[in-house]
Amino acid sequence: MYNSRISGLGFYVPDNVVTNEDLSKLMDTNDAWIQERTGIKERRHVVKGKDTTTIMGVKAAKIAIERAGIDKDDIDFIVFATLSPDYYFPGAGVLVQRDLDIKTVGALDVRNQCSGFVYAISIADQYIKSGMYKNILVIGSELHSGGLDFTTRGRGVSVIFGDGAGAAILTREEDPKKGILSTHLHSEGQYAEELSLLAPGIGHRWVSDILKDNDPDDVSYYPYMNGQLVFKNAVVRFSEVIMEGLKKNKLDVKDIDMLIPHQANLRISQFIQRKFGLSDDQVYNNIMNYGNTTAASIPIALTEAWEKDRIKEGDLVVLAAFGSGFTWGSVIMRW
Ligand code: UT7
Repeated sequence: MYNSRISGLGFYVPDNVVTNEDLSKLMDTNDAWIQERTGIKERRHVVKGKDTTTIMGVKAAKIAIERAGIDKDDIDFIVFATLSPDYYFPGAGVLVQRDLDIKTVGALDVRNQCSGFVYAISIADQYIKSGMYKNILVIGSELHSGGLDFTTRGRGVSVIFGDGAGAAILTREEDPKKGILSTHLHSEGQYAEELSLLAPGIGHRWVSDILKDNDPDDVSYYPYMNGQLVFKNAVVRFSEVIMEGLKKNKLDVKDIDMLIPHQANLRISQFIQRKFGLSDDQVYNNIMNYGNTTAASIPIALTEAWEKDRIKEGDLVVLAAFGSGFTWGSVIMRW
């Protein structure tokens, strides 16, 4: 049995910066509310027609491939996590295979929203551990801005989310003490609708009904979030799943060198940091600059932390996520 380790990282965000002030011109909101409740100062939005979820994912992937020191044709498999794919089907993974012009390797899409990248890493890790594949491209990418309600009706959700992509190359590692030590995944479907986007799910309404109604007040194409319920569950599940991973590896909170939490809300990250008694050096947050980029948030934050030399060889790095589903998970790795 092998281990897998991250051998290359990259991220891409669109140039277009959207501040809280910019949003307050579109809806009844303000910088003070957004910063106080979420920590977000600004986020990036794509320029319509320029970037898509796949295009951003490909840009991040090219950087990760180069940094891994491999050729695109060394990639054995693609895992793409997103809740905002270019098409309802096919998934974004095959579009990456096409755009990177990689030989006909398998491509899998993961639909686990904010936990998507953690789930994707876990899947890739199993393929490498089993010996089936040697190099796997894992992408988390989201284009939120094209699907949000930028009127006051949607302000509870639309101020939070931003666009961007992150990518990692997972590579076979022979040393059992290095790389990904374990991954931990959970779900609780009783809360499925509490953070959801119901349309165009065929189980919700048939396309013929939608076309017939053509109702401008139909909000089922916009995301819905029961913010307080999500917040309460997030702080509990983040803590649980980090502890589960540490215990599995006979490690303790004090062993964490770098915790990269999914960037859902700065208040959630700060709650976890305080609960675990971690210093500012042990946690990386960048939600202030990018908002919540869902499946892209962990790979963007991980790449930034690595680029800033905040992660060094031998460090214990912990990834943790919670989001729609509800789903949550963690990754424990030795860098
Ligand atoms: O990434 C997936 C996981 N997501 C999360 O973990 C998010 C978890 N939840 C949260 O982060 C928070 O619940 C939010 C940031 C989404 C909302 O913060 P909150 O403190 O829970 O606010 P709230 O929804 O209870 O709303 C409080 C008030 C309401 O007004 P009233 O009813 O008290 O008069 C809202 O209408 O704030 C109002 N409000 C806003 N005001 C200005 C909601 N959104 C806005 C806004 N600007 N953008």
